[in-house]
Amino acid sequence: SDRPRALSGIQPTSGSFHLGNYLGAIRQYVALQETHDAFYMVVDLHAITMPQDPKELRANTRLSAAQLLAAGLDPERCTLFVQSHVPEHAQLGWVMNCITGFGEASRMTQFKDKSAKGGVNNASVGLFTYPILQVADILLYQANAVPVGEDQRQHIELTRDLAERFNQRFGQTFTIPSAHIVKEVAKIYDLQDPAIKMSKSASSPKGLINLLDEPKATEKKIKSAVTDTGTEIRFDAEKKPGVSNLLTIYSTLTGESIPALEARYEGKGYGALKTDLAAVMVDFVTPFRKRTQEFLDDPETLDAILAKGAEKARAVASETLAQAYDRLGF
Ligand code: ADP
Ligand code: NA
Repeated sequence: SDRPRALSGIQPTSGSFHLGNYLGAIRQYVALQETHDAFYMVVDLHAITMPQDPKELRANTRLSAAQLLAAGLDPERCTLFVQSHVPEHAQLGWVMNCITGFGEASRMTQFKDKSAKGGVNNASVGLFTYPILQVADILLYQANAVPVGEDQRQHIELTRDLAERFNQRFGQTFTIPSAHIVKEVAKIYDLQDPAIKMSKSASSPKGLINLLDEPKATEKKIKSAVTDTGTEIRFDAEKKPGVSNLLTIYSTLTGESIPALEARYEGKGYGALKTDLAAVMVDFVTPFRKRTQEFLDDPETLDAILAKGAEKARAVASETLAQAYDRLGF
C-alpha cells in the first residue's frame, strides 16, 4: 500500500467502551481506515503493567476486539490484532529500553499520575517503562501517523527521540512518526457533572454511557442528563456545559452541525432535545450491541480475524525487528 501508515493501541477495557471512547477515539480509527494503511491493536502487554486478573484480561481483550469490529473496523481495510500475538513488540521493547536514559524515562509524566494512588514504590517497573514499549509498538510498523489525544504527546516525542537516536547510532532503520493529534475531536463530558470528562473511573453510573448498556437505560440517562438554568438551546461550553455536551454528542453522532441544531431547536425546550437525542443514541447502540454479541457468539470467526491480523502485523514487524537486530550486531 502506498498510503501513509497509522498505528494505534487500545487498552482492553473492562466491560464496555463508553461513549467518550467511541466519539473521541474509535470513530477516528474507523475513518483512518479509508486514508491510511492502519494498524490497530488491543494492547494486552500494556494491560499487565497494573494488577490484573488473567480470566478477565482474556475476556476483556476479546470483548474489546468485538466492539472495535462492531464499531466499524473492517479486517479487509485495516489490520486489527492483539499485541501479545506479535512477540516482536516485547523484543523491540527491550532494545528501546537499552537506549533510553533513566532520567529521560523519569520525565514521563504519566507514570507520576498513574502510580500516585498506590505509591511509586508499589508500582511495577513495567508501568515505569511502558512508554518505551509504546515506542517499540510504533516503530515496528514504520508508522508515519499516530492518532492520539493530547495526553499522549509526550510519548510521541519520546518515540521521535529514540528513533532518531537509534538511526544515528546504528544506521537508518526507523521512520520518524508524527503525532496525528485530532484537534477537532469531540470531548464528551459526564452527563451528571459536565465539569469532568466522561470516564470509566471518574464518572458515576448515571453520568456514563456504556455502549453495551441496555438501550432503555441509555435513553433514561440522556433524558435525566443535567441541563443548565435557562431554557435556550445554545452551545456555550462555559455557561451551558450540560446542553453543550448534549449538542456535541448529537452533532458528532449524526454529522449535523451545531448551528443547524441550534436553529432546529430554537424556541423548543430541553425536553425536545433530550427526547430526540435519546432516539439517536438508541438507533446507534442497538445495532452496535447486536454486532458485538454476534462476534462474541462466534468465537471461531473472531479468533480467525485476530489470527489473520497478527499474521499481517508480524509480516511487517518481523522485518523491522530483523533489521534492527542486524544493525545492533545480533
Ligand atoms: P477512560 O478515561 O475512560 O479510562 P481511556 O483513557 O482508556 O478512557 O481512553 C481511551 C480513548 O478514548 C483515548 O483515545 C481517549 O482520548 C478517549 N476518550 C476517553 N474518554 C473520552 C471522553 N470523555 N471524550 C473524548 N474522548 C475520550
Ligand atoms: Na484513562
